[in-house]
Parts: sequence; C-alpha cells; structure tokens
Amino acid sequence: MLLLLLAILVCPFCSSTPVHDSFHQCLSVDDQDIFFTPDDSSYTLLLNTTALNLRCIAPYMAKPQIIFTPLHENHIQSAVICAKKHGIQIRVRSGGHDYEGLSYTSAMDPPYVVIDLSKLRRVDVNVKDGSVWVEAGATVGELYYRVAEKSKTLAVPAGLCTSLGIGGHITGGAYGSMMRKFGLAADNALDAKIIDANGQILDRKAMGEDVFWAIRGGGGGSFGVLVSWKLKLVTVPETVTVFNAQKTLEQGATKILYKWQQVAPKLDEDLFIRVFIQTSNIPNTTQRTISTTYNALYLGKADKLQEIMKQNFPELGLTTKDCIEMSWLESVLFIAGYPRSVPTSVLLAGKPTFVNYFKAKSDFVKEPIPEKGLEEIWERFLEEDSPLMIWNPYGGMMSKISESSIPFPHRNGTLFKIQYITSWMDLDKEVMNKHVDWIRKLYNYMTQHVSMFPRQAYVNYRDLDLGMNDKNGDDTSFVKASSFGTRYFKDNFNRLVKIKTEFDPDNFFKHEQSIPVLPLKGKTQRFKHPKWGKVKKGHKKIHH
Ligand SMILES: Cc1cc2nc3c(=O)[nH]c(=O)nc-3n(C[C@H](O)[C@H](O)[C@H](O)COP(=O)(O)OP(=O)(O)OC[C@H]3O[C@@H](n4cnc5c(N)ncnc54)[C@H](O)[C@@H]3O)c2cc1C
Ligand SMILES: *[C@@H]1O[C@H](CO)[C@@H](O)[C@H](O)[C@H]1NC(C)=O
Ligand SMILES: *[C@@H]1O[C@H](CO)[C@@H](O)[C@H](O)[C@H]1NC(C)=O
Ligand SMILES: *[C@@H]1O[C@H](CO)[C@@H](O)[C@H](O)[C@H]1NC(C)=O
Repeated sequence: MLLLLLAILVCPFCSSTPVHDSFHQCLSVDDQDIFFTPDDSSYTLLLNTTALNLRCIAPYMAKPQIIFTPLHENHIQSAVICAKKHGIQIRVRSGGHDYEGLSYTSAMDPPYVVIDLSKLRRVDVNVKDGSVWVEAGATVGELYYRVAEKSKTLAVPAGLCTSLGIGGHITGGAYGSMMRKFGLAADNALDAKIIDANGQILDRKAMGEDVFWAIRGGGGGSFGVLVSWKLKLVTVPETVTVFNAQKTLEQGATKILYKWQQVAPKLDEDLFIRVFIQTSNIPNTTQRTISTTYNALYLGKADKLQEIMKQNFPELGLTTKDCIEMSWLESVLFIAGYPRSVPTSVLLAGKPTFVNYFKAKSDFVKEPIPEKGLEEIWERFLEEDSPLMIWNPYGGMMSKISESSIPFPHRNGTLFKIQYITSWMDLDKEVMNKHVDWIRKLYNYMTQHVSMFPRQAYVNYRDLDLGMNDKNGDDTSFVKASSFGTRYFKDNFNRLVKIKTEFDPDNFFKHEQSIPVLPLKGKTQRFKHPKWGKVKKGHKKIHH
C-alpha cells in the first residue's frame, strides 16, 4: 500500500515511466520540439513562461509529466485521443492566467499532460463582415493589435490585461473597458471550434446551440479544447479619451468612493471608470494611507467627457489636464498600465507586465457600501503588505442582457464587481499562509456588503476556496460542485450540468472546479482506478 502510494507520489516527477512512452508512441509525432519531459532542458522555462501565478509553480506544486505544444489542430486531436486511450489526465493551457494555475498544475490523480496552445495564435480579421477568427493561444493584446492594424475604428470588447490567452479567457466570459457599451467578449461570440472528448473537431453548427451556449461563459477545461473563436467586431470612434485620477484618504477618498458606487453604474455607456484601491505612503512620511485611483476609458472626445463628469461626478475634480485623447489601441496600453512611451507593437510580444505570488477572490455588489463599511475595509488594508482591490462598474449593456442568455449570470441589479488581491514575492509556505489567511478574513468580513443567496463570484477569477467550507462539502462531491457552480453561474449551473452530462458523459475534461456530470442516482458508481484516474464505464445514457 505504502509502496503504491509512493509510486503515485513520485511518478509525476520522473520521466522514464510507461506514461511518457505510451503517450509519445501513441501520438506518433517525430518533432522533438513539441514534446517535453522534465528531463528536457527547456521544460522548466516552457512550464513557467506563461505561469502567471508563481504560487502555482512553487516546488511543492504538482508538475506535468509531459508538456505538449501542438502546431496544428490535428496534433490536439491526437493528444486527446491518446490521453483518453491511456487514461491520462490533460490540462489545457492558453495564456496561463488561471488564478489557481489549473491550466498547468493539478491536485487530482497524477500523472497529467499539459497541452500548451502557445504555438497556435493566428488572427484572421475580416473587415468586410466585421468579424475575426482568433486561435486559442493568441493573447488579447495580439488580437487588439491585429484588428486595429486593419481599421482604426474596429475593436474587440475583451479583457484589460493584454497578456490574457484567448482560450481560457473568452470561455469564462471576458469583460473589459467596453463592457458597459458592448457586453462581454462571450456576448459577442459568433462561432467557435472545439475538440471534444472523442477528438472530433466541431464548429457551432456541429456542436449544437446547447454546447455553444455552455462554452460562452461556462469556464475553461469542462467541455473540450477550444481551438479558436469567431468574434464580432465593434465600432469605436477614431479618438477616445482616458484618464487616471488619484485620491488618498487625506484628499477625501472615502466620500468620493461612496459617490462613485452610486454614479459609475448609471453613467453614459460610453464611459467606464474602474477604481484601484491600494495602500501608499503619505508623501514625505512613513505613514501609510489608502489611495484610490480612478482609471477610465471614454469612447469619445475629452470635452464631452468633461461635461459628463461635471454633471455626474464633480467630486472627483477631473481637470482638462487629466484627460488624454488617443486611438483605441493606445487606450488599451494606457488602461493596462503601460507608460506612454511604450509603442503599441509591445502587444505582439504577448508578455505579461508582471508575475508574482498571489491569491485573489471576487464579489458582486448590489447596494452601495456605506462610508463606515469602507472605513472598516481600510483598517484591514493597512494591516496587509500589498493589498489591492479593483472595483469594476456594471450597468449599461450588462443590465440589458438576460441572466440566462449565456452562462455568465451577473447582470441587471449589479452595481459593481470587487476583485480582491494580495500578492507577495516569497516562496515560503508560511508567508503564503499568512497572506491567504488575510484575504479569507477580509472576504468573511465583506459578507454583509455583497450579493447573497448565492454569494456570487466570477468564474474567470477562479477561487478554490469556494465550496470548501460548505456543509457536506468534500473534494469530490457533487454538493461541493453545486456550491461553486451556483456562485459562478446561479441558475445556469443546472443547464451547464445537463449539457456536460450529454457532451462529455465520461467526464474526460475535468479539473478541481470543472462542471460535473450528473451523479447516477441508485446506479452503479463509476469505478475510479487510483493510479490512472481511469473511468470504467457504468451507465452512459442519462435520461432527463
Ligand atoms: C493579471 C490578470 C488580469 C486579468 N484581467 C482580466 C480582465 O480584464 N477581464 C477578464 O474577464 N478576466 C481577467 N482575468 C482573468 C482571466 O480572464 C482568466 O484567468 C482566464 O481564464 C485566463 O485565460 P488564459 O487562457 O490566459 O488562462 P489559462 O490558465 O491558460 O486557462 C484558464 C482555464 O481555462 C482552461 N483553458 C485554457 N485554454 C483552453 C482552451 N483552449 N480550451 C478549453 N479550456 C482552456 C484551462 O485549463 C484553465 O482551466 C485576468 C487574470 C489575470 C491573471
Ligand atoms: C523559469 O525557468 C527558467 C529556466 O529553468 C529559470 O531560469 C527561471 O528562473 C524560472 N523562473 C521562475 C519564476 O521560476
Ligand atoms: C517632500 O519633500 C520634497 C523634498 O524634500 C519636497 O520637494 C516636497 O515638496 C515634499 N512634499 C510634500 C507633499 O511635502
Ligand atoms: C433592471 O432592474 C430594475 C429593477 O431592479 C428595473 O427597473 C429595470 O427596468 C431593469 N433594467 C433592464 C434593462 O431590464
């Protein structure tokens, strides 16, 4: 028993095992540059280049036994077929921005293979019919650049961080600075190509409307490998305006933020003002304070923006000097935090602007948080090294789309979303525990101020804490899945489970928070082999 256990534990870190060989043979690809084991000198570099959260590549985290970097879609098809045949788990990675690293680490039964799509990053812009096909391994920054290259007045409403991978990002919803005008990227998806558990490649017509609904917001890694997306292009003005405006506690930050909560979700749809909340030093002292930075995009010119701000949010005291006019593509860099001197071609490198150790969580707010509540948050912030919140306004188009239109359910009635982040630069587990503990306590405190029944969360801000503390919750139970599932998807979770059960009945595409298949009530339980996580087929057909 102990030996078996040891073998399981040790296996993911050794290379000359049957898994490696059988998978390699099955793939029958000769190209050495697309198949990497821990013995290869480039393995570590490849593993960690797009692993955004250093917490998830720490030495004590599980590593893949193989990294496979397909060059064509038929390579992905072979990988799926061979992994299934040999009972090997797969993880799919596009941009590697998963908050819990689920695209490259795994807490489930080893061994596993990472299918890394970074070599599939074609972008085909079709100005005539106003659409673009983009492959999963491209970043949103590359997508934006390629679209703007074709037309200064066409754009894509996806994420703000330019290194996000198309593959994981769009299928989780994908919001950005134009969401109040155009909705999410998933709201603007026209078609997709997905490889199912049988290795078949399916477009929208072939997969059917149910599956196409599920992948527009149901989250990565549950239904298949997305190869590419077709997105609708939206029209933007040739000149847009951006600003950053900072207010500290000494400058009345609390009152201004209280006002922001009431106005930001109701402003003109062309205007998106998010807020970064951090700690900083009071100039020329060692005393810490809270600083709030308003980071905004207006789809129009500066004079009109000034008018809107004077009328609706004069408390911010925005001046003409704060407002900078530029092209939409330049605004992408500004919003992402690049200095003005950096050329837009930096987007083609697809590199993140930072990597660190972090833990994050999310909430949705339906009633403004009173000033007293804000002050209680500040106290907690001042106790932590590098705390950050990003508040994202809703309203506009987000309120006009129904909750069941796609799986992403956070719509009308939401004032804004909170993202909590704490980050550090230390491998030490104790240090990690201290910071994770801090963010969990803050999250508990916030209960009184945020959405309830369910307490909602954004699936693209993956949080493995969700469902863990619920009654009867254990790692594998359907109960736990229902818990994180209803938080991410509200009532849409039930439909996702039905679609999953029909499309991937053997649950081949799975991870710690994938959409589960319906439990087989009163029927033979599926037998899970401890070593390979192989599934012996019990009852395949589910009758609804
Ligand atoms: C710094 C930072 C900024 C962010 N900013 C935004 C933002 O502005 N807006 C927003 O909406 N979100 C944002 N996010 C969240 C982001 O959308 C998610 O982390 C998203 O899942 C990242 O996609 P990826 O391909 O980069 O990640 P990956 O880690 O590669 O994948 C994420 C998940 O999807 C799965 N997956 C990956 N590729 C595929 C595929 N081809 N087919 C099927 N499943 C796949 C993975 O297995 C994993 O479960 C941000 C995240 C970070 C770290
Ligand atoms: C990533 O791997 C490379 C090559 O082994 C190494 O030099 C680098 O320090 C690694 N980075 C991190 C963050 O682990
Ligand atoms: C801080 O100190 C610098 C140099 O000593 C000085 O120029 C500046 O005015 C000071 N700032 C404030 C806010 O007091
Ligand atoms: C959003 O909900 C409010 C009430 O909660 C309602 O008055 C409003 O009409 C709704 N808006 C849309 C666009 O459905």
